[in-house]
Amino acid sequence: MIKIFDTTLRDGEQSPGCSMSFDEKIEVAKQLEKLKVDVIEAGFAAASIGDFNSIREIANQVRNCTVASLARALPADIERAYEAVKGAANPRIHTFIATSDLHMKYKLKMSREAVIQHTQSMVKYAKQFCNDIEFSAEDASRSDPMFLYRVIEEAIKMGATTINIPDTVGYTTPDEFYELISNIRYYVKNADAVTLSVHCHNDLGLAVANSLAAVRAGATQVECTINGIGERAGNAALEEIVMAINTRSGHYNQMTHIDTKEIIKTSHLVSKVTGTRVQHNKAIVGENAFAHESGIHQHGMLANPMTYEIMTPESIGLTTNSLVLGKHSGKHALEDRIKSLGYQLTDAKLNEVFNGFKALADKKKTIYERDIEALIQAKSAFDETAYTLASFVINSGNIITSTCQIGLKREGQIYDSVAHGHGPVDAAFKAIEKIIGTSYELDDYTIQSVTEGEDAQGEAMVKIKVDSETYTGYGLSTDIIEASIKAYLSAINKIIQNSEVEESERKWA
Ligand code: KIV
Ligand code: ZN
Repeated sequence: MIKIFDTTLRDGEQSPGCSMSFDEKIEVAKQLEKLKVDVIEAGFAAASIGDFNSIREIANQVRNCTVASLARALPADIERAYEAVKGAANPRIHTFIATSDLHMKYKLKMSREAVIQHTQSMVKYAKQFCNDIEFSAEDASRSDPMFLYRVIEEAIKMGATTINIPDTVGYTTPDEFYELISNIRYYVKNADAVTLSVHCHNDLGLAVANSLAAVRAGATQVECTINGIGERAGNAALEEIVMAINTRSGHYNQMTHIDTKEIIKTSHLVSKVTGTRVQHNKAIVGENAFAHESGIHQHGMLANPMTYEIMTPESIGLTTNSLVLGKHSGKHALEDRIKSLGYQLTDAKLNEVFNGFKALADKKKTIYERDIEALIQAKSAFDETAYTLASFVINSGNIITSTCQIGLKREGQIYDSVAHGHGPVDAAFKAIEKIIGTSYELDDYTIQSVTEGEDAQGEAMVKIKVDSETYTGYGLSTDIIEASIKAYLSAINKIIQNSEVEESERKWA
């Protein structure tokens, strides 16, 4: 059995443009639990108060996965990591130190002997808090193998239960990594008594291939992220590793605990909360991954799906995207369909989705399952203190300056303003900024249709940068200007909410 260690919330989240709010991290962790990953690396507790709080909450809420926090090999980091995960059903401290000459000389400024001593003392230190200790040798793939074996052996002696071999800079190749893992198993005493993990980055596009080569060499845990998000070119993609092991079970002779039917939902959720769209031709979860356009392929598929399909769309939880309900469908019918899509909603959320569905049915002829999913995943207005859209009027054209008149509602009061801009979206954003009293730096803005058809819902995504933080907002509507306004407001509401949390943290600190 291969353990799946998901680091979407740590290595994924720490990469630029992928940050998530507290609530989003909890939502992702709960979905990872449904996906049945073995370990959730929930964050890096010593990095910030926000990270610490979200790890602690995930540790308290998730019951069926091990919850880990990353920690440098430093007493303060290890203590903080344990504080954050101690409420988990199965807590893990994941500590690391670099072992390549390059990292030891220029980053750590430590000798080989000092790194060995540090490994011994820090694994021992962590072990007094928690039995489940993972030790990572950062930049392992570029380390002197003989030295690496010594470090790993010491970590095992001191009680590490998982040893992780990262290809930190995505430098290794499948045959080379296969050899490294085989040699670790051969040369390191007790290597087979612990979980042997790999953690591959994708700088050369080899992260999944390297992880799978390691599995063939005897690795028993793979570290990966949903949609392959992560530092630089990302980490190994969970969905690709799992589906390769499943689809080619005869070759790998291995299994995972993953409920593959949850893959597409998890992919959509991570894409949504991070604001990183999945490329259309991405393996497994890309929009075209199961699309057969060419006539020859379609003909073969009709005769026998196995001609061109090595796995079924249903196996990753994709539905047929069929017409579901119409204007006259009632709440029970909608509830049934939502349940069959695998969602359990509270009464309040069901009401909200039902109202959205009715409004949509007035505007759109054909409602698909993906439309319903988009309504479910659309964020509720935060609370009374959030700004919501009350009204807008746009005047735009190719021979006039665009103007937007907008009304926003907050705490029962309506605020109006008018602004000009380069096009209707720019005018609308400027009108919003006039009301808020701040102008923002727009980092990214995209709009795409949820389904096909001229009356399809448009889903707008906006990223705003404030200091070094990125805030992502989404908006959904059959009118793309309205979708854009909603997306801008949802990102602004997150900024306001975050500054209120930071303010109260400052008061209590
Ligand atoms: O890439 C890496 O080396 C890491 C370690 C901290 C596990 O993320
Ligand atoms: Zn990494």
